[in-house]
Amino acid sequence: MKEKIEGLRVRFASELGEAVSQESLEALRVGFLGKKGEIAELMKGLRDVADKKTAGQLINSFKNEVESAIADAEESLRKAAIDAQVRGAKKYNPTLASPRELGSYHPITLATREVEEIFISMGFTIENYDEIVDDYRCFEALNIPKHHPARDMQDTYYLDNGQLLKTHTSAAQNAIMKKYGAPLRAIFPGRCFRNESTDACHENTFFQMEGMMIDENISISNLIYFMKTMLSEVFKRDVKVRLRPGFFPFVEPGFELDINCAICGGEGCPSCKNSGWLELCPCGMIHPNVLSEGGINPDEYTGFAFGLGLTRLAMMKYGVKDIRDLNGANLNSLDQFTEDK
Ligand code: DAH
Repeated sequence: MKEKIEGLRVRFASELGEAVSQESLEALRVGFLGKKGEIAELMKGLRDVADKKTAGQLINSFKNEVESAIADAEESLRKAAIDAQVRGAKKYNPTLASPRELGSYHPITLATREVEEIFISMGFTIENYDEIVDDYRCFEALNIPKHHPARDMQDTYYLDNGQLLKTHTSAAQNAIMKKYGAPLRAIFPGRCFRNESTDACHENTFFQMEGMMIDENISISNLIYFMKTMLSEVFKRDVKVRLRPGFFPFVEPGFELDINCAICGGEGCPSCKNSGWLELCPCGMIHPNVLSEGGINPDEYTGFAFGLGLTRLAMMKYGVKDIRDLNGANLNSLDQFTEDK
């Protein structure tokens, strides 16, 4: 019996080394652990053995070994697949020249379209909004009066006529509420601007995708459900989300929404600064003042809003390490993304 198990152990190790797909692992599992597998055969063989107790223990420990080796191999396969998906199996290479003369889509366009499709399937309309707005729409209508400290975080570029380049897609909330009234489900992607010094993670020009859902009895549960569904679709896996309190004058309560890190599965790695979570999407329940300012009665309706960082999402999805590449003029390198559409 001992020799038999030893032989099987050697065979198992070599077959495990060759099993590089989910299917081959499954075949290995059936071959060893299945009803008619090797271990079942060993059990049958027990009949003819004198020292059944020792032989039974040997078989059992071999069985445990096989089970845990297969489980470990499945786990590493799953992680490798997620890793490839999230970081972009084809890593973005800014120095690669285009092999073709045809134009191609920008990664931000691809990410925008993908998220738009998901929200369309959930009954949201897509709104297109201005890049130049006034102080009222960008700040005051959002419960950020003049001299409010929240304005410090959002310095921008002003035009001679007093208008400004919008600092966030939230600037369209007021106009959309006035256009449609309640109930309302809309998303509005757009380019935003901030007067900031740039580095690999900061740009003066970037994209967000704002969303609002307003109806009777909308609660935080609706917010969590929609965000979880949307993010699971975007990342093509069941994401876990976590809400932390966050302050934004136009929502009450306001949250920072994190998703569990796909690269380490939540255990902690450099990509998530060892926390297991990635900050992705501030959100909250729309402040009653903001609803009233948009002409919607806060006693009758409630709603949630979120501001997804589209640029950040595209960087995560396509493995773009430096945000400045996205606004750069190297159009040739965009060709790497065309396979996605
Ligand atoms: N507009 C905010 C920003 O750019 C993000 C944001 C936070 C949008 C909370 C929201 C929200 O809709 O509910 O910093």
